[in-house]
Amino acid sequence: MPTRRTVLTATMAALGSGVATGAALTPLLKSGDHPQASPATQLAAAAPPIEKFRLPMPVPPVLTPYSRAGGTDRYRMTMRPARAEILPGIGTDVLTYDGHFPGPVVRARSGRRLTVVQHNRLDMPTSVHLHGAAVPPEEDGSPMDTIAPGRRRRYTYQNRQSHASLWFHDHAHHMESEHVYRGLAGTYLITDAVEEALPLPTGRYDVPIAIRDARFDDNGQLLYEMGDFLHRTTLLANGRAYPYFQVAARTYRLRLVNTSNLRALRLRLADGSEMVQIGSDGGLLPAPHSTDAVTLSPGERADVVIDFARYPVGTGVVLENTLLTGGPADLLGQVLRFDVVRTAPDDSLIPPVLRTLPPLPTPTAERSVVMTMDTSGGPHAKGYINGKVYDPDRIDDRVRHGASEVWTVTNGDKTVPHNFHMHLVQFRILERNGRSPGPAESGLKDTVLVMPGETVKLQATFDTYRGVYLYHCHLIDHSAMGMMAQFRVS
Ligand code: C2O
Ligand code: CU
Ligand code: CU
Repeated sequence: MPTRRTVLTATMAALGSGVATGAALTPLLKSGDHPQASPATQLAAAAPPIEKFRLPMPVPPVLTPYSRAGGTDRYRMTMRPARAEILPGIGTDVLTYDGHFPGPVVRARSGRRLTVVQHNRLDMPTSVHLHGAAVPPEEDGSPMDTIAPGRRRRYTYQNRQSHASLWFHDHAHHMESEHVYRGLAGTYLITDAVEEALPLPTGRYDVPIAIRDARFDDNGQLLYEMGDFLHRTTLLANGRAYPYFQVAARTYRLRLVNTSNLRALRLRLADGSEMVQIGSDGGLLPAPHSTDAVTLSPGERADVVIDFARYPVGTGVVLENTLLTGGPADLLGQVLRFDVVRTAPDDSLIPPVLRTLPPLPTPTAERSVVMTMDTSGGPHAKGYINGKVYDPDRIDDRVRHGASEVWTVTNGDKTVPHNFHMHLVQFRILERNGRSPGPAESGLKDTVLVMPGETVKLQATFDTYRGVYLYHCHLIDHSAMGMMAQFRVS
């Protein structure tokens, strides 16, 4: 457990090395990027020290529809402030969907309509975006299409797509990054017959886990500054700092999502033992992939199966993060601890074939996207796509309905990582730096990591809805700085 002193020392070391080495995953590299953070506030921000593995990891509740009549599942949610016990014994003010930090789980069915009436009881406009979903433009929660404080609106989701582990979050222009940071994020799982036919772990053995970083002040309150990567050094799993999670000695399906604003994570079990990745952003992979680690940049999901039957009851195994990038290892190196506390029957299996993806159509167009940002820093730093800052009145790309396009996405920065997220579509990754992608990127994706200098080629088919949609870097402090653009399908 870190003492206050080790926390402070580690924080200073992190600042030093982050600045000096230009660590690859440090989005902002100069201390001058954080003019508000004097050395005194940096030290204060590291307090109080956190006792790890003291609180259980909450599992967000599955929301119940108020009606299932007429072939539609109808839900209501209220966006409101709440207090959450993120750190042991401390109440932290957060923004929530329905009082839950993170938000609740919505379970949808492919092809079945679902509506959510969202009531905004916050004092800021909000916009609810269902990340990874194919929805008409007016249901997409776009940045300018907001719900005013005190108002409500209904979003309608037709779920015209195959099973997928999606999430929803705020997207109000210039406010999304702070709103998501303070808690406006929840889980949306679509299932279908293909997925249901597989003998994968279900029910209480199918657990969504949202992992993110955060920065706290002396009183345990969330501190938000735009682009403040270096100080967000406390890791949360389902809204708790370093919780334990009691499991049975059997297999679990864990739906991991990285809801950090800026931090990429590489997750592994402390003993290096096997995790089987079965899914990514857009649902199951074609085949399971046995690995010892999964990498998730902000917004990405990984569906993994872990067999805790390999551990005797009484064992604790820590889920580690190995992407420290010069940060304090005692804070950034551990996420949560699985405590194996009982045995349980298990008739689940991971079949060798999980799904069949349709063959890629012959591409009809090509495009390229270059992402860059001002690395000079400061509160007015901007992010660019093809040299331009986001303008809601500008259409950057015109896509013909039915087209299948190859997009070549380049991170034009030397030190800052970005990732690339498209609304409306799930795409396939064709190449990363000229080579075929690894098995973790063999399925449907809506968000992909693009490290400094890297180029990723992807193919997307625009055969569903028409209208204007966003694409952007999902390091959402960067999108808030303008690293967003729009395409129109017509
Ligand atoms: Cu999850 Cu436009 O984003
Ligand atoms: Cu999205
Ligand atoms: Cu970025």
